[in-house]
Amino acid sequence: MTDVQTRADADNPAEPAGTTSTRRVVLLSAGALGAGAVLTACGTDNGGPGSNPNGTDFDSNPVPAGSTGAQADSAGGNAGTVLVAASEVAVGGGVIKGDYVITQPEKGSFKAFSKVCTHQGCDVTEINDGSILCRCHNSAFSIKDGQPTAGPATQPLPETKVSLDGDNVVAA
Ligand code: FES
Repeated sequence: MTDVQTRADADNPAEPAGTTSTRRVVLLSAGALGAGAVLTACGTDNGGPGSNPNGTDFDSNPVPAGSTGAQADSAGGNAGTVLVAASEVAVGGGVIKGDYVITQPEKGSFKAFSKVCTHQGCDVTEINDGSILCRCHNSAFSIKDGQPTAGPATQPLPETKVSLDGDNVVAA
């Protein structure tokens, strides 16, 4: 395409009639190819390094920001931090609040997980029918233990130990 830059075009009055759109056609074609390349990259994204939307590289750094890993942690060392009012967490469901997904798999039993999907780092966005869902690539995680149940994610959502303090679910 470098020869295009040396061709006569609409900006060059010396260009013969009927050839004024050469550069535009070539540039539009190049633009279309570029868009195709972008679409291809999105469509074939297989979790390669640096490809997650949160800007972290899970291939070399599989732990979500703010987490201490797949094992249970204590909300970054902030035991007692209120995560949510217990009344906001439906039995058999949950709520996404702050950096956490707080669930209540059974009445009176609360769990909290990182909201950062372990596949490529999107935030999970829904809790439906006993599953925590990431719509970036449709991974699903159990509200009971954060284990992946569908989609490309293979690692569980990191859990934060919680307890009930009065009417609130707090980091333990
Ligand atoms: S980032 Fe791919 S499924 Fe969540």
